[in-house]
This record gives sequence, structure tokens and C-alpha cells, in this order.
Amino acid sequence: MMLPIPDLLDAATLARLRAVLDGGDWIDGNATSGAQSALAKRNHQLAEGTPAAREAGGIVLDALGRSPLFVAAALPLKVFPPLFNRYEGGEAFGAHVDNAIRMQRGSDFRIRSDLSCTVFLSDPDSYDGGELVVEEPSGERRVKLGAGSAILYPSTSVHRVEPVTRGARLASFFWLQSMVRGGDERAILFDLDRAVQRVGGELGQGHRAAVELTGVYHNLLRRWADA
Ligand code: NI
Repeated sequence: MMLPIPDLLDAATLARLRAVLDGGDWIDGNATSGAQSALAKRNHQLAEGTPAAREAGGIVLDALGRSPLFVAAALPLKVFPPLFNRYEGGEAFGAHVDNAIRMQRGSDFRIRSDLSCTVFLSDPDSYDGGELVVEEPSGERRVKLGAGSAILYPSTSVHRVEPVTRGARLASFFWLQSMVRGGDERAILFDLDRAVQRVGGELGQGHRAAVELTGVYHNLLRRWADA
């Protein structure tokens, strides 16, 4: 499932984040790559573990926790500390897959990457190219969202970032381990969650049907989730 999360960051939060990033230390993006990715990747990345990186990552994590859409769709168990990259001057990231296991340097924190997320931080009119292209069985999905909006996509996919031929594309990206490992089960829970919200909205949250459907949701979650 690919899911856009519109306006994950509001304008004030985005401005605060951009100010932190402007003052940060940007290095060659291959600092975090595996051997195969290093061949395909040309960009710059905010140096990990620096005060700016920690502050910027905290801003994104905070916004994720406050997004009901993100939480319902991802059912996050562990989120890798958000990273930040910048593409300009023809930089791109060729077709690649994300590593199944992500370890944080200098700690024992590790996650299985079930979902990948990109948060677009630049106004799309300010740069050319830079689409995130995700290969799906039905074809390619090309994604270029407004500043502050995010896209969730399966970490199992082959994907790339098209060359940025004008301006600069700033983004945050990270991986997460979901409480529900399987994408099919996660999609069913997401659909059911939305239906429950709709029933509750139309009939009232205390309506017997809303209560029973909520019970079905939680019983499926109990069956499928690791927490
Ligand atoms: Ni990737």
C-alpha cells in the first residue's frame, strides 16, 4: 500500500524544521549506504548524531505521533530516527531496495524495515525532477508532494529518486517496523479502521454497531500484531 499523508507538517513546523536544517552539517549521502546503494546514490545528507540532526528528527517524530492517519496506516512499533537528504545539481538515487534490517550506529537499536517514508520539505515548484518513483506490480508510481506532506510505501519495493535538474529537493526519510508484519493484514486493518470511524461518525461512537466493529478491529489487531 502506498499512502500519502497530506500536511504531516504544518507551515510553522515546516519553517522551524527548515531553519534547523539550514544550520546543519551536510555530508556525502553515501555515509549511510550499503554497497549496492552506494553505486546508485548521489546526494547529500544531514550528518547523523549531530545536535541539528537530533532536533530535526525530533520535530518529524513528534509530527508522526500526532498524525492519526500515519498511526492508523503504519501501526508503528519502532521508527528509525528520521534522516534528511538534499538533491541538487543533477543528483539522483538510482533504482534500489532498502535494507531489510536497519541498525543505528553506536547503539543496539535495530528495526526490520516494513515501511519506508519520505517527507517532502521543499516547495515542488522550486525544483525540477526529484520525483520518488516506486515500482509496483501495476506499474510505476511517481510521487512529488507539497512541502510538509509525506508518502508511506512498502520497503519491499524497488524505488528511485529522479535527477533534480533545477533547484534543491530537501526531504526527510526513514523506515519503520510495524506491529503488523504483513502488508495485506495492515491494509485490512486500515480499511476497517476507516469504516469504523465512518460508522461512528454517522451513528455515534456509542452506537452498538460502532462498538461491535471496534471490537472486531481490536480482535484482529490482537491476532496479527506484535507489540
Ligand atoms: Ni530507498
